[in-house]
Amino acid sequence: HGTSKINGQGHLEIGGCDTVELAAQWGTPLYVMDEELIRQRCREFVDAFRASGLPFQVAYASKAFCVMAMCRIVEEEGMSLDVVSDGELYTALQAGFPAERIHFHGNNKTPQELEMAVDARIGCIVVDNFVELAMLNAIAGEKKQRMKILLRITPGVDAHTHEFISTGQEDSKFGFDLGNGAAKQAVETASALPHVELLGIHSHIGSQIFEVGGFELAVDKITNFAVTMREELGVLFPVINLGGGFGIRYVDGDTPLPVAEYVRAITDAVKSTFGRHGYPLPEIWTEPGRSIVGEAGTTLYTVGTYKDIPGVRKYVAVDGGMTDNPRPALYGAKYEALLANRANDASEETVSIAGKCCESGDMLIWDVELPAVKSGDVLAVGSTGAYNYAMASNYNRLRRPAVVFVKDGRAEVVVKRETFENLVGNDVIPERLQRPV
Ligand code: LLP
Repeated sequence: HGTSKINGQGHLEIGGCDTVELAAQWGTPLYVMDEELIRQRCREFVDAFRASGLPFQVAYASKAFCVMAMCRIVEEEGMSLDVVSDGELYTALQAGFPAERIHFHGNNKTPQELEMAVDARIGCIVVDNFVELAMLNAIAGEKKQRMKILLRITPGVDAHTHEFISTGQEDSKFGFDLGNGAAKQAVETASALPHVELLGIHSHIGSQIFEVGGFELAVDKITNFAVTMREELGVLFPVINLGGGFGIRYVDGDTPLPVAEYVRAITDAVKSTFGRHGYPLPEIWTEPGRSIVGEAGTTLYTVGTYKDIPGVRKYVAVDGGMTDNPRPALYGAKYEALLANRANDASEETVSIAGKCCESGDMLIWDVELPAVKSGDVLAVGSTGAYNYAMASNYNRLRRPAVVFVKDGRAEVVVKRETFENLVGNDVIPERLQRPV
């Protein structure tokens, strides 16, 4: 997908760059991001919303992959940016991202984070609970400001996704519950507070969603809620945010819809449900993360050792693992792989790809068909652009890999590989433990 192809030497090429050369030049593991595919996905969202005729904002959920160069691309594509921590906010501001297009999420924003957001005059805070609502009103008041907010509600929609990454059920740490009256109470409270301006409501129903039904159901529930709030409290919502969760292809058999279809289902549902009640059509916001960057990422590894257990399995070990991609260990996530240096060779054996961390759960792929693998081969694992670098760790004191953007035959580093100095950079040896001189 994207700009990936096999070149004349039988090597995997992405963005016009030979991945075998990238591995040689930058070392492995290496995250390679197809910039053209990222921009294409951004444009698919923006174009589909434009076609709907509804006012909109597409806010890239930066948690999927938050580095300064990515913030620049999001800004260039005319989108907004969703952050969930002071670190993501800092990254965006350092990249010069326009503050008024930043939205701040999270179930436990600290006072310091709220102050930072208010001081930076960001566009919107998605308030998650009553404690935060009171705290934000006080902080904005001290700074003589009025902060625009959305209220995050839990609509109780099950989007048929992996248990650990589903956030739409009523029993959730996120948001105001729609069923038990908390959401109404929040609208009432927020409307009366002087230092927040209630723009509307937010709902996020889950991740890696392949159907439009969950979004349609969420729109339905939100419409009913909005209509009730108008009738009972006289409050109107000019903005409805439907969160992210649009699925991508990790392996054969994953069946994501084209971006335009998700967007059309959402905008059609909004038009018809709000229209039916004579409700002024709201501005629609979404927060895609995975669907913007997921398929654009490929991780390159060098094959090291391998071990054949006759009649059982062959383990092939690479120079990364759960440190650069914790998703298989965390979620049982599935990936596909190919040998980047012999991409045309026929499959000859079924092997399992092991990471180099000191625990048995550090497996990247169970049972993948590959040509006879040998040490020094370059293994490419696809769809690693979302929640991989973002969730990478230094477990076993491995250095986090570099990230390069490739486009039109040019490769540019956007995150440098960590150094040994980085690893010990924050370590301190108290004087009493220092070696005597
Ligand atoms: N908006 C909100 C409020 C969210 O909680 C999330 C994801 C998104 C947007 C973006 O969702 P996306 O379009 O990327 O699916 N680490 C997990 C995914 C956790 C998602 C958390 N929230 C994984 O690797 O699959």
